[in-house]
Amino acid sequence: MTEICKSWLFVPADSERKLEKSRSSDADVVIYDLEDAVQPARRDIARRLVADVLQQDVPTVQCVRVNPVDSRDCADDLAAVMPYAPRWVMLPKLRSPACADMLAEQLRAYDRKADDAEDATAVVAIMTETPEMALRLPALEALNPRVRAITWGAEDLSVAIGATTTRGADGEWLALYQQMRSQTLLAARALNIQAIDTLYAAFKDSEGLAQYAQRAARDGFDGMLAIHPAQTTVINTAFTPDAESIREAQRVVAAFAAQPDAGAVQLEGRMLDKPHLTLAQKILARAR
Ligand code: COA
Ligand code: MG
Repeated sequence: MTEICKSWLFVPADSERKLEKSRSSDADVVIYDLEDAVQPARRDIARRLVADVLQQDVPTVQCVRVNPVDSRDCADDLAAVMPYAPRWVMLPKLRSPACADMLAEQLRAYDRKADDAEDATAVVAIMTETPEMALRLPALEALNPRVRAITWGAEDLSVAIGATTTRGADGEWLALYQQMRSQTLLAARALNIQAIDTLYAAFKDSEGLAQYAQRAARDGFDGMLAIHPAQTTVINTAFTPDAESIREAQRVVAAFAAQPDAGAVQLEGRMLDKPHLTLAQKILARAR
């Protein structure tokens, strides 16, 4: 099982300054972006810089966002980075689950490990960037076993459908994007992989980010994307259970432990059964 990752920080891979800065980040994962944050003319420079940083000892887990799998750029991205076996590859703009199969096929050529081998490069896929994939998401039944996490994004989909906004006047996601977010969470759970919420673009609004990230954690996501180093501590905190929820979870586990034969027990006047125990165990696992 792949380690749970709470904060995933994007870094435009052609920026030496930002790459340097990412070395001291507390993000769980740093995503070196070779796709939308890099001008096509600078992709070769970016590929060389990523190859360099993949050979360095950095405290974070490393991920590379490659270009869409059916592009020539993707093949060039993989040729540049796969010799250094990044822990994760992020795949954007899937049009169908077959795009993940195509990527897995290409990865196999580099590492010759089984798709589900513990240390094979894992894939994190962005599931909502094209209308074709967005339509398929509710009926998604399987995804290539290389895919160990999925996430979603609003911007590319809104451009693809011709919308000029993704949020209402109250700042909440419009219905379409709420639906995409929920479908991503459901699909991740059905597939038993990590669910990563999308980024919070207003990187100076740390109070707004904290609220968003706490909500994402409560809703069931495992982590969230970040676009600025100032966001990762806030995200890590939001996805780490606080002292009170840990104590509560310990009380629940203890109540069941005290009556090993009982399926339902009471704690201070409340009924607890299996789902309560499962949730408590999950919280304690997350706290570790
Ligand atoms: N990773 C690493 N370092 C970053 C960073 C990032 N994502 N974003 C900013 N920094 C660095 C800056 O280089 C700057 O460092 P310095 O003090 O050494 O110059 C410092 O953090 C403060 O940055 P700030 O001035 O607040 O922002 P900026 O104008 O330099 O950059 C963005 C703003 C939005 C362009 C930048 O945060 C960014 O590039 N984000 C990621 C974009 C991306 O990858 N998008 C694709 C996925 S959606
Ligand atoms: Mg994009």
